[in-house]
Amino acid sequence: MTQAVHNLPVRGDPILRVVPRPADINANGHIFGGWVLAQMDIAGGIVAGRIAEGPCATVAIEKMEFIAPILLRDIISVYASLERRGRTSMAIRIEVVATRDRGEQEVKVTEGLFTFVALDEQHRPRPLPSTD
Ligand SMILES: CC(C)(COP(=O)(O)OP(=O)(O)OC[C@H]1O[C@@H](n2cnc3c(N)ncnc32)[C@H](O)[C@@H]1OP(=O)(O)O)[C@@H](O)C(=O)NCCC(=O)NCCS
Repeated sequence: MTQAVHNLPVRGDPILRVVPRPADINANGHIFGGWVLAQMDIAGGIVAGRIAEGPCATVAIEKMEFIAPILLRDIISVYASLERRGRTSMAIRIEVVATRDRGEQEVKVTEGLFTFVALDEQHRPRPLPSTD
């Protein structure tokens, strides 16, 4: 039976599901922070690209919290959703949940708020499409 996860948002399907490899382990036997940050950036970029209807760049990470370690054999689910919309920018909240023990346990491992900017063909900020 899957245990309840505290503070786990229900945001529909994860944007990514991925499994870390042995090469992603640091000296503590946990997964490198940079590895999970990259997965978050990829998932956030997918959501930003859908909203912007085109290319986007990561301009800032407003918040990044490593809550619990990721272990080898965890299955990582990355959830991402729009938190704030600007003229050309989007703040995307990203949360990562590790499923372990063959699905018996779920642990929220990281959370972050990433800012993406929609880009035009000159790689300059482009206004987001209207929501009307
Ligand atoms: C993204 C980039 C084109 C923005 O250029 P810029 O000259 O800073 O653009 P602006 O000052 O007009 O800001 C554009 C938007 O980004 C927001 N922004 C810029 N810097 C920001 C920061 N540090 N934190 C949060 N938002 C920021 C602005 O508030 C603005 O939002 P709005 O239009 O919704 O009001 C430029 O910074 C860039 O190319 N950065 C490198 C991107 C990159 O290589 N990322 C890593 C790989 S994807």
